Amino acid sequence: MTTISIEHVWKEYGDQIVLENVSLTFGHRAFVALVGPSGCGKTTFLRMLLSEETPTRGRILIDGEPLPREPGADRGVVFQRYSVFPHLTVLGNVLLAAELPRARFTGRLFGAARRDAQEEARALIAEVGLAGAEDKYPAALSGGMQQRLALAQAIMRKPKILLLDEPFGALDPGIRADIHVLMKRLWNSCEMSVVMVTHDLREAFTLATRIIAFERRRNGDDRARYGAVVAKDIEVWPRRIAGHTASDRDDPISADTTDRDGPAHLPR
Ligand SMILES: Nc1ncnc2c1ncn2[C@@H]1O[C@H](COP(=O)(O)OP(=O)(O)OP(=O)(O)O)[C@@H](O)[C@H]1O
Ligand SMILES: [Mg+2]
Repeated sequence: MTTISIEHVWKEYGDQIVLENVSLTFGHRAFVALVGPSGCGKTTFLRMLLSEETPTRGRILIDGEPLPREPGADRGVVFQRYSVFPHLTVLGNVLLAAELPRARFTGRLFGAARRDAQEEARALIAEVGLAGAEDKYPAALSGGMQQRLALAQAIMRKPKILLLDEPFGALDPGIRADIHVLMKRLWNSCEMSVVMVTHDLREAFTLATRIIAFERRRNGDDRARYGAVVAKDIEVWPRRIAGHTASDRDDPISADTTDRDGPAHLPR
């Protein structure tokens, strides 16, 4: 079980309040989409979940325990760009994810452990649709392929929580639809919760179980003195449950099925 509890979290940079008294609980294997205007603190929130930043006030707990102080294998992350290592091949990138936590001193695996990791990495590369590209370098991959690689790299470490910061924002719509199908499959098959920042409401409704909208309520000169708060907290309906793919909502997205993610599904 993985439950994430955010308790009265504030984040300030000097005089600027970025987030103000945010309290949220994400249940086991939730898929949370975070939306909100540019600069409202979405990335900052994600970085706190990753332990790259600490709350100024309040606390974040995973399964009742305070968040570890350092980013660790329990939390994977994929950014919009540059999540993969350009000097490593596809296989090298995914293998590195396995090697780093398991071989702390040498940074490498040997013998049977390396063969096992290679097998696992190749299977995961195939799972994300990159079979045949194992020996290519990221520069030779399209944007969509690089994000598939970034997902494989993050998932190789078997994170309890996968953090995504606009991971598909730079992709063309067709490529994005394909990678949404992959994302749903990964969420269904891996034991993980997902917290994803997106600018795209359609994407949020396509993938998430829950949508959280941050917003700064006040405008004017003293804006920096007020942080963003949770303005909306929407459970996506009909409910999605990890591991249940039977629903027609999980089919690949096509132009003639656009209405299924429309506002008609919103609870009032
Ligand atoms: N390390 C930092 N030092 C000082 N201010 C910061 C730091 N990181 C973020 N900020 C400020 O916090 C605010 C929120 O930034 P953040 O990147 O979290 O926004 P965002 O919601 O992710 O925006 P976008 O949608 O454009 O990515 C911004 O005003 C930003 O300038
Ligand atoms: Mg951001």
